[in-house]
Amino acid sequence: MLIDRAAVVARLAAAGCVAPDEEADALLAAGPDDATLAAWLRRREDGEPLAWLTGTTTFAGRALHVAPGTYVPRPRTEDLARRAAGALPPGGRAADLCTGVGAVAAALRAAVPSATVVGTDRDPVAAACARRNGVATVVADLAAPLGGDGAWDVVTAVCPYVPTGEVAFLPRDVQRHEPRPALDGGPDGLAVARRVVGAAARLLRPGGRLLLELGGHQDEALARDLAAAGFTAAEPWHDDDGDLRGLTARRTA
Ligand SMILES: C[S@@+](CC[C@H](N)C(=O)[O-])C[C@H]1O[C@@H](n2cnc3c(N)ncnc32)[C@H](O)[C@@H]1O
Repeated sequence: MLIDRAAVVARLAAAGCVAPDEEADALLAAGPDDATLAAWLRRREDGEPLAWLTGTTTFAGRALHVAPGTYVPRPRTEDLARRAAGALPPGGRAADLCTGVGAVAAALRAAVPSATVVGTDRDPVAAACARRNGVATVVADLAAPLGGDGAWDVVTAVCPYVPTGEVAFLPRDVQRHEPRPALDGGPDGLAVARRVVGAAARLLRPGGRLLLELGGHQDEALARDLAAAGFTAAEPWHDDDGDLRGLTARRTA
């Protein structure tokens, strides 16, 4: 190999990667030939996500296929997946709206193998990835094609929730490369989330759970919409810094 590991680490470090050793190992483990490795390094230096180069990432301990152009699942979302799995009974039904490459849905399938888990995403490339990741996925706007009203146990959504005015404060590489429709949630970040609340109100059985990833003070901003749609006992959860990461809401009878 013309480019050795030390040279790969040095180029990644010079490009500002925070974990150049780990990234070098991930690139080399994928077994690229010299020309491919050189092309990958140029793309990484340009800020493309590592997962787009290797075609894979790890979520909740499992490898997932990730295609270029799709949102790369974040470790912070693993908490939502764990909580959702805890709310999904054996043999139950879960819908993961805005599933992307199917990270949450795949984690639910692994945690509760007897459950039916369906994903939807309007991006056909992401939906194809989700299918490769074992998730039955429909290309659709939110829950539009899903029937079984009032019979689902869990609805999850990591939908776009960044307020439009805050997209400019995301890391430069995220802004340059990751798909804006996966990030931009409209003026207060809740344009899609409000529609998810409406869809979940239709799908969930009494006592069923909606789990949403959120940030800022969006739990407070969404409280009235949740109550109006028939949800109660909305429980926000926070990270170790005390920042809001999401909420769970229960469908009332
Ligand atoms: C932030 S990404 C999250 C993907 C995935 N849930 C995850 O955590 O890795 C948001 C996803 O929502 C999808 N999306 C945005 N608006 C949508 C809509 N109206 N209907 C379905 N999918 C939508 C995007 O294509 C993108 O894949």
